[in-house]
Amino acid sequence: MRGWIDIGRLDDIPRRGARRVVRPCGSPAIAVFRTADDALYALTDRCPHRGGPLSEGIVQGHAVACPLHGWVIALDSGKAEAPDEGCVTTVGVKRIGDRILLSASMLEVDGRPRWKAR
Ligand code: FES
Repeated sequence: MRGWIDIGRLDDIPRRGARRVVRPCGSPAIAVFRTADDALYALTDRCPHRGGPLSEGIVQGHAVACPLHGWVIALDSGKAEAPDEGCVTTVGVKRIGDRILLSASMLEVDGRPRWKAR
C-alpha cells in the first residue's frame, strides 16, 4: 500500500473552502479544507451532530461551522467546540509544492486506490 495519494492541486480548493473526495462502498466522503493562510486539513465529511456535510460549512480560522445547525469543528482535531460534544475522524493530508496528498489508508480498498475528487 502506498503512503500518500495525490488528489489535486492546491488551487483546486479556494481559500476558506473545501473539496470532497468520494469513497466507495458507502464510506463517508472526505472533506479537504484550505484555510485563509493555506493550511490544509482533511476530515470525514459528516458532522458528529447529525451528519451534516462539513464540506459545505463556513471555514472560520482553523475550524469549520456545520451548515445545518452551526456546530463548530476544529479542523486539526476534529473535535466539536464546547459546549457541544463529539468528534469526526481526521485524515492525514500534506502538501508538496502545489500538490495535495491524502493518506492512502483512507482511500484504498484491497490495496487499490478507490476515490474521486469533486
Ligand atoms: S448536523 Fe452539524 S450541527 Fe447539526
